[in-house]
Amino acid sequence: MQEILVLNGPNLGMLGAREPEVYGHATLDDLRELLEARKTAEQRVEVRQTDDEAELIGWIHEAFRRGCDVILNPAAFTHYSYGLRDAVAMLQGTSRLIEVHISNPHTREAFRHMSTISGVATGVIAGFGFQSYVLALSALTD
Ligand code: DQA
Repeated sequence: MQEILVLNGPNLGMLGAREPEVYGHATLDDLRELLEARKTAEQRVEVRQTDDEAELIGWIHEAFRRGCDVILNPAAFTHYSYGLRDAVAMLQGTSRLIEVHISNPHTREAFRHMSTISGVATGVIAGFGFQSYVLALSALTD
């Protein structure tokens, strides 16, 4: 069984209500249902969300210890968290990590063009709404 942690950073718990013109009307529970429906029989997917940087870093440590692959939407932490980047760097050589974004940060404000994570991620998928996660799941199919 392939264990995949789907980790979501700050404000993504507010999906559905948060800036629907950017992020759409679907909620994190909708994302959970979508990934359950789209995973293969060999994949186990766990969707989590936190607004807390320390908790998110702890989940990356857990992925390292358990050897899980990760789909990570770091949300705003993408743009300034060196602590999260250092945690993700630890996974190189043990687990794959795909950085995903619902929107395409490169078409938005300048501060969103910088990612601390992309340089240590296995790959990056952005701009496809929840399909970004589905594409990541398919990229991680063994
Ligand atoms: C986001 C893009 C980030 O710039 C933003 O801070 C988010 C969501 C996305 O999924 O499009 O919270 O990661």
